[in-house]
Amino acid sequence: MSVHRHPIVDDSLGLAAQGYSWFPGRWRRSPDPDVLHTRLMGRHAVGLRGPDAVRFFYDEEHVRRHGALPEPVQGTLFGHGAIHTLDGIDHRNRKLLFMSVLTDPHRVGRLAERAGQAWDSAAAGWVTQPRVILFDETARVLTRAVCDWAGVPLADADLHRTAADLTALVDGFATAGPRHWRARRARGRLERWLARVIEHARTGEPDDSVLDLVARHTGTDGRLLTPERAAVELLNVLRPTVAVSWFVTFAGHALHRWPRLRDRLRDGDLGYAVAFAHELRRFYPFAPFVGGLAVRDLTFQGEHIPRNALVLLDIFGQNHDPRLWPDPYRFDPQRFLDHEPGRDDLIPQGGGDPRAGHRCPGEDVTVALLATLAIRLARLDYEVPDQDLSISLRRIPALPRSRVELNVAGMVA
Ligand code: HEM
Repeated sequence: MSVHRHPIVDDSLGLAAQGYSWFPGRWRRSPDPDVLHTRLMGRHAVGLRGPDAVRFFYDEEHVRRHGALPEPVQGTLFGHGAIHTLDGIDHRNRKLLFMSVLTDPHRVGRLAERAGQAWDSAAAGWVTQPRVILFDETARVLTRAVCDWAGVPLADADLHRTAADLTALVDGFATAGPRHWRARRARGRLERWLARVIEHARTGEPDDSVLDLVARHTGTDGRLLTPERAAVELLNVLRPTVAVSWFVTFAGHALHRWPRLRDRLRDGDLGYAVAFAHELRRFYPFAPFVGGLAVRDLTFQGEHIPRNALVLLDIFGQNHDPRLWPDPYRFDPQRFLDHEPGRDDLIPQGGGDPRAGHRCPGEDVTVALLATLAIRLARLDYEVPDQDLSISLRRIPALPRSRVELNVAGMVA
């Protein structure tokens, strides 16, 4: 009986302390390159990586989500009863709602356009300030854009607070400290506000806005979602859209470290901007892994996975696996130029078929927003004052410590 197959020592504290560095350390000690055994939260846990593992993990016969997400993650990042926790027909029904609005090219195009406008009007004010923080400014730009686009009324006076609350949900999900409690309070405020917005939308005429589609969505029982549950799902559109601020901040980091990347972006080369967006999503640390529970006793590549074991797909590890990405720690948008990423190779937002499984339905939105805002960032005339741009891999979610401060002089002609 091998120690690897029946791990005794719980590594939850190791994971909490090491963040993104936890999986690499485990892989180094694993005799198998794509499967490892450990214990987390008192459960046998199995780590997987590689395109075959992606297909295995996203098969509903293998891995279920119900009961897998720790309460602290539901109470901050996703919300209770969110799509992330559903399986089978209930999941499929809810997923159709997200896919219909998030993969419609017209809607995605309108959101990117609205984000571009919000950026341009905010950037005019950056010139008058001695310093701006790229992360905070982008969060406000995206909050303004996504609320307008979704039909959610948001007064200018509430913009700063709402953007701060939306980012707090993401910032606080993987820690037990003050950031976590800030995230819980932010979720309470946001859910109460959006439940009222949903109730109000139900009293008006249908208008095909995202708000309206969520408000009128019916479950497999043919009934409307409760206002509270509908608010959770509306937040599952607003919150991750604003979370694209993490990648825009990483774009600021990349353009500072490798300034020659700015030239092609500045030219407005959209193909290059999309490749740059993919490389940002591959290279920088954001979602560390996804997890579920083994539906029954399973075997993957000859390894036994007991029923109810926690199964983790190592996102960050796979996106830096030299077998898939030659020289994985080189930032190189060229990898994706004239070359669409393989469905189960590049998995910063999950893998498999998004219609059938839990893969993120927001990839088109993410790439469109990143391409739009990266071009604008490259066209901005700014200096990067002295600051701490280091990115700790122990902190989930990671971010340059200074959140990228800029001294903006104007737009590049
Ligand atoms: C699911 C990452 C942006 C909406 C996910 C998952 C990941 C992820 C890792 C889980 C996949 C799984 O459980 O297997 C990201 C990252 C983003 C992003 C890194 C960039 C900021 C977006 C956007 C939206 C969105 C822009 C919507 C506007 C969702 C939803 C789910 C999801 C609704 C749940 C899907 C399901 O359970 O079927 N995302 N996402 N995400 N994402 Fe995203």
